[in-house]
Amino acid sequence: MSERIAYFNAAAAKWDDLPKAAADKLEYIVSFLPTHSGVQVIDAGCGTGILLPFIRARIGGSGQIYAVDFAAEMLKQARAKYNWPNLTFIQSDVTSLDLPAASIDAIICYSLYPHLPDKESALSAFARLLKPRGRLIIAHSNSRQAINEIHQSLGGPVAHDLLPPVGETAALFSLAGLRVLKTRDDEQYYLIVAEK
Ligand SMILES: C[S@@+](CC[C@H](N)C(=O)[O-])C[C@H]1O[C@@H](n2cnc3c(N)ncnc32)[C@H](O)[C@@H]1O
Repeated sequence: MSERIAYFNAAAAKWDDLPKAAADKLEYIVSFLPTHSGVQVIDAGCGTGILLPFIRARIGGSGQIYAVDFAAEMLKQARAKYNWPNLTFIQSDVTSLDLPAASIDAIICYSLYPHLPDKESALSAFARLLKPRGRLIIAHSNSRQAINEIHQSLGGPVAHDLLPPVGETAALFSLAGLRVLKTRDDEQYYLIVAEK
């Protein structure tokens, strides 16, 4: 795991110079977040915070956002950009977060899932944090093939961080007690929305 942390720490300073998804694609991804007053949301693997303004626009000021990443340099970039009263940064592995069970309304993993080496234990850690009916959103704003090609071409610790067909991933969700509501595995998105 420390190899991956070092990898993402080294990538942090130039992360925001990489090509980004169009705003409408990020708006689509956050459209699956619940929006009730006081909603508690985790941006898992937040990186430099690319999704944070979109989450905030979606949930408004009354919700709470936990932006979690294990790479200190990624968090440093994110902290420099965003400082809202309802935003808490946490440096942690997302699969061992020190937050109470059944306390979170939604966990959104944007461009994180392939980097989690033990998918089953990650999904059960997420399920533990979610309230009943809480949502888990796994999202990528590119096709599975494009993402897998990027990781293979990057090499190093992410070379084998590949996305399986969405049906295979969805099957793991039920093992963790999560009911799949929607999937996409097409030219535009790799997406799974599930509910506890
Ligand atoms: C591909 S980047 C995506 C960052 C951001 N979501 C974005 O789309 O720009 C993956 C991020 O997840 C973080 N990450 C990977 N595995 C993690 C884990 N187990 N716990 C916490 N953060 C993790 C990395 O440090 C990195 O910042």
